[in-house]
Amino acid sequence: MSEAAPGPAPRACIVGWPVKHSRSPLIHGHWLETLGLAGSYGREEVSPEAFPSFLKTLQARGYVGCNVTVPHKEAAYRTVEVATDRARALEVVNTVWFENGVLHGDNTDIVGFVSSLDADAPGWADGAGHALVLGAGGAARAIVAGLLDRQVGLVTVLNRTRDRAETLARFFGKRVQAARWEDLSQLLHSADLLVNATSLGMTGQPALDVSLEGLRPGAVVTDAVYVPLETPLLREARARGARTVDGLGMLLHQAASGFEHWFGRLPEVTPELRALVVADIQKSHPA
Ligand code: ATR
Repeated sequence: MSEAAPGPAPRACIVGWPVKHSRSPLIHGHWLETLGLAGSYGREEVSPEAFPSFLKTLQARGYVGCNVTVPHKEAAYRTVEVATDRARALEVVNTVWFENGVLHGDNTDIVGFVSSLDADAPGWADGAGHALVLGAGGAARAIVAGLLDRQVGLVTVLNRTRDRAETLARFFGKRVQAARWEDLSQLLHSADLLVNATSLGMTGQPALDVSLEGLRPGAVVTDAVYVPLETPLLREARARGARTVDGLGMLLHQAASGFEHWFGRLPEVTPELRALVVADIQKSHPA
């Protein structure tokens, strides 16, 4: 154990509505324990009406920062005093901390997505010409930003509600286009990468009912859903010879940067951490 730090141990939390199913306390608790740091990470269930004033009084409540989850990420962007370029690009904040008493916000979902692919499908972006993204909500927005950051040539967004796909494409400009959900089968043969950024396939949600007929062996397929860990989409992709990356990596990697802001050390996403969270998922959602 490290020596006790002077002053109170730093406290951080996740703020959501609801928040009881969040696995962030497990992740940060593991890092605090394995790094031998004083500090704690809790949960705060805050209604949308109460959220802006909660965030403005975060320091007075004894917190050095927080994660923000559904449905507060846009409100967090509007409430912080300084937002990073990434957060400004998406107008979404999921990680909050103080610098000299000033409330800062970042969007770490982008780096979480990219780091997860880097770790589990090394070289995924090398020469990647075309990525298909299913979904056009908040998760899709961070994922598209990550793909563009890593120089993927063209991103096609397919969404049940076509207008949302078009709005997303316009938001990012000419390297992003919208297509109809039904066009997936024609587009698959040209895809280096396929990402499910919808909630479909998650336990308790409808299935993601798409055929991967035509998918190139060697393409990378990843799913933002991580309960279950191996979604039917990933199972079919693996059977077709694709490289698959589950959604848990994105959750684990997005957490690291907040931890560094609050507790002063950049933690690692280790197999041990992953196993801990997998066991927790299996406990609450037995296969
Ligand atoms: P998140 O922030 O997690 O991305 P969101 O903004 O609510 O959440 O977006 C959810 C995504 O899943 C959307 O792309 C949504 O499609 P619509 O824009 O058409 O609503 C998609 N989705 C959710 N349920 C769906 C369903 N039953 N069929 C097809 N797409 C669905």
